[in-house]
Amino acid sequence: MNTCIVGLQWGDEGKGKIVDILAEHKDIVVRYSGGANAGHTVVIDNNTFALHLLPSGSVRSNINCVIANAVVVDPQCLIEEIDTLARKNITLDGRLFISENAHVVLDYHKQEDRLREESLGENKIGTTIRGIGPCYADKIGRSYAVRMADLRDLGELKDKLKTIIEYKNKIFSALYNAEPISDDDIFEKCKCYADRFLPFMTDTTAFLHKAIEDGKSILFEGAQGSLLDLDHGTFPFVTSSNSSSLGMSVGCGVPARMVDRFVGVAKVYSTRVGAGPFPTEQDNEIGQYIRDKGNEYGTTTGRPRRCGWFDAVVVSYAAKIGAIDQIALMHLDTIAGMKELKVCRAYKIDGKEITFFPTNAAKLSRAQCIYETVPGWQEDITGVDNFHDLPLNAQNYIMFIEEMIKKPVTIIGVGPKRKQTIFR
Ligand code: GDP
Ligand code: IMO
Ligand code: MG
Repeated sequence: MNTCIVGLQWGDEGKGKIVDILAEHKDIVVRYSGGANAGHTVVIDNNTFALHLLPSGSVRSNINCVIANAVVVDPQCLIEEIDTLARKNITLDGRLFISENAHVVLDYHKQEDRLREESLGENKIGTTIRGIGPCYADKIGRSYAVRMADLRDLGELKDKLKTIIEYKNKIFSALYNAEPISDDDIFEKCKCYADRFLPFMTDTTAFLHKAIEDGKSILFEGAQGSLLDLDHGTFPFVTSSNSSSLGMSVGCGVPARMVDRFVGVAKVYSTRVGAGPFPTEQDNEIGQYIRDKGNEYGTTTGRPRRCGWFDAVVVSYAAKIGAIDQIALMHLDTIAGMKELKVCRAYKIDGKEITFFPTNAAKLSRAQCIYETVPGWQEDITGVDNFHDLPLNAQNYIMFIEEMIKKPVTIIGVGPKRKQTIFR
């Protein structure tokens, strides 16, 4: 049984927790897109792991982990992550497989990300400054790209870096009046990266197809959320990869028809980090209640997340383009204590009622939400482990969402821990 997990909103839906739980019965977990902009939280007893590049299955020592072709790898960040796990006696030796085709995020990508965002002022995207956009841009541009495989031939890489950094420095100086960066420094770092990562590098596509032939069970871990997808999200306020489940097959070379089940993860409310339209946003005491109670601060950047009501237009759209079979709805505990809850069922844009999500950012920013209001509940539900033991209004809220998005909700989160999960 192969399963793909994907976020159905703007990221941070709780994918890390769901991947960790479902990984128990898998042989391999695969990260297929994005980079260290992701922050996936896994809570095991008193340990909290924030994973950026390693698949969330990595905390289970019996699971093989793949970082596939379309991931942009920040080697410095990956070293830190591997070392953090090692300090907790979790080793990746012999079970981490990094694609030779994955592109490498280097210091000049992060510099470019930062300089561009600063120069945009109020028009900035609000990126994580992890060099994601510049690295993917170099990949698409081809001429100035560095792949993991380039670490195999340091002589050639030295020349390549010289050319790339000469080009980057011209841009940094001309556009941003910035200090030049040194190709020697970056080359020295790459030598360390080569030492560290050559043992893990392989043809991950061949590895995955062999595993499928051998009857192994694979979990594909999406990063970010469907609304941040470069081609299907709220462009330009998106990330630079195909972060919906549509990116899975292109990201790792396994066709979508080989996946048996697509599980979409959503929160029972909405959040977004960075700029861009957010129709159900509650920039008021309701949003603050959700932020405080749900601890809605970025796993990667620590930024406060923008919070708002559940948007059925968004989640229905993401479920459609993602061929989602079932939904994991997280953070039901967070909205306990509210008198009433709102769910956006449609938008009114330029006088017209719309239920199919418009990805055009200008159009979306004119959307007025049409809400349905349902009663809330006051009870603490963080210890509930059975759907029928939830307060009636909480059960009704879940069923109301199911009805709106026309997909079954099979997993419900009532807290960050593994045990705080209800299966239906
Ligand atoms: P991801 O990027 O989708 O993996 O999500 P993040 O890890 O960035 O953010 C989700 C946050 O919510 C993390 O702090 C999780 O520990 C936490 N979390 C996940 N599910 C639940 C839940 O059902 N209830 C509560 N209260 N917290 C949850
Ligand atoms: P996980 O996997 C939430 C957002 C950034 C910004 C936009 C572009 O933890 O759900 P980028 O650095 O990718 O160029 O930033 O995308 N973003 C995320 N928001 N969760 C994420 O990942 C995100 N990854 C990127 O905040 O708005
Ligand atoms: Mg996150």
